[in-house]
Amino acid sequence: MRRIALVYMLTGFLIFLGMIQLGLWMRLSQAGILSPPPVLFYAILTLHGTAQLSAFLLSGMGGLAYALSPKVRLNSSLLWLVYGIYMVGVILVLISTLVGKVGVGWTMLPPLPFAGVMTWSMAMATAFMVGVFSVALAFLLYCVNALYAIVKADGGVSKALAWRYLFSGGRSGAESLPRMVDLAGMMVAIDGIIATVVGAVLLIALFATMAGILPNLDWLVVKNGLYLFGHMVANLIIYLAAGLLYTALPAYTNREWKTAWYSILGWNLAIVLVLLAYGHHVYQDFVQPLLLQMTGFIDSYLVGLPALLVTILGGLALIYRSRLRWAVSSILMVLGLGGWVFGGVGAVIDATIPLNQLFHNTLLWVPAHFHTYLLFGAVAFNLVFLYRLITEFSNSKGLQVSRAAAGLYGIGGAGFFLTFFVAGAYGVARRFAVYPPEWQVFAQGGIPSILLVDLAVLGLAVDIFTRLRAARQTISPAPAWRAG
Ligand code: HEM
Repeated sequence: MRRIALVYMLTGFLIFLGMIQLGLWMRLSQAGILSPPPVLFYAILTLHGTAQLSAFLLSGMGGLAYALSPKVRLNSSLLWLVYGIYMVGVILVLISTLVGKVGVGWTMLPPLPFAGVMTWSMAMATAFMVGVFSVALAFLLYCVNALYAIVKADGGVSKALAWRYLFSGGRSGAESLPRMVDLAGMMVAIDGIIATVVGAVLLIALFATMAGILPNLDWLVVKNGLYLFGHMVANLIIYLAAGLLYTALPAYTNREWKTAWYSILGWNLAIVLVLLAYGHHVYQDFVQPLLLQMTGFIDSYLVGLPALLVTILGGLALIYRSRLRWAVSSILMVLGLGGWVFGGVGAVIDATIPLNQLFHNTLLWVPAHFHTYLLFGAVAFNLVFLYRLITEFSNSKGLQVSRAAAGLYGIGGAGFFLTFFVAGAYGVARRFAVYPPEWQVFAQGGIPSILLVDLAVLGLAVDIFTRLRAARQTISPAPAWRAG
């Protein structure tokens, strides 16, 4: 499992590093410093968004498989198959965007893939969608693998979700409670299966339409389904990362992260709430039933509560007076908790219908909030876990300079996403390849911060890769910090 975890997490890390360069390139273009043809900009935008999300999906899957072990053992042959299918997807996405110039955005909402055939070929549009399909299929297999393994280890679905303890108000069932990481794994697996099945069915229907086998589809239904799929997968990246935090944070605070009644309630509620929150993406479709819009609205307010009460406040309680030392991992973990709150508040603001009329899709508010909780939440927790794996496996200390790199990551990251928020408040639209001169200043202002993030991640990369050989040779016995 250690080898698998390392391969998954390092692949994710390398994709992340590469995609930061494309993010920088896009910001340089929007700043007016570079002037690529818009067709290329949209292909790069599509690649950046799709690959970054996929990178942390893979990294989180690898990390969680390791965090769950040894109590919960996922099938390793299946995990290698998942990796193979995932890589086929990545290669197809790379070819279709870089060679085929497919610029459908990571949301790939139809009819754009078909309508864009003046710019890209149908074959390349299909290759892109097959690529996304492969990543979804890989995630589906992973979720089935994880669900089976957790349910088997915990003795059934109800035990894995601690229903007896939950519904008895904590009076019975305390003797066999699942670990926090098991609860996170169950939630990710259940919602992951639902999201990827919906996504896969829709993609197959789209392929059939492209081949002329099916007549025109109902595009509103397709849009709802694709958002349910895309939003869910993007969200599950954070919940996968929460599973990593449950395992890593206790090692630094020397305190156990116990499974409390309210945590069980939170994770059970999250299974339902995360499923319904996608509704805030489709407010602008006025023909939708009002009930769907209202469900999306109310749910978007509720969905943050389990994360806030269980993971964020739980994490802060664990840190409080624990004499946490400021090392690479602890800096990144605190950034992660802060970024999750900050980005989450941005998401709730964006999900408020009257404000969404102003912000959604027309302003950079959307990339602002998701970059915040991804860069500081999910990415930070993944970096912590990868750093721990390398440290434990190589039995070595990290470079001194890495602490400064973690600090730079915080300063640069905050500067970068703040320029997105400020631009959003000013009215800058998202997904514009060419900015009018009065918008360029926002992109220019963000560039020094992006360079800091880049430098920080490169610094961490040097630290990780110089210790990789030792890690591979001397994989140490199961470390104590993994208990939990
Ligand atoms: C320093 C690191 C990063 C930089 C400089 C960066 C930069 C950018 C830029 C300039 C855009 C285009 C915004 C627009 O005009 O609409 C963008 C979009 C996006 N980014 Fe990033 N980004 C970074 C990290 C990440 C990470 C870590 C993720 C995910 C884990 C991510 C996911 C996305 C997504 C999903 C989009 C939207 C793509 C689309 O509209 O189709 N980015 N990013």
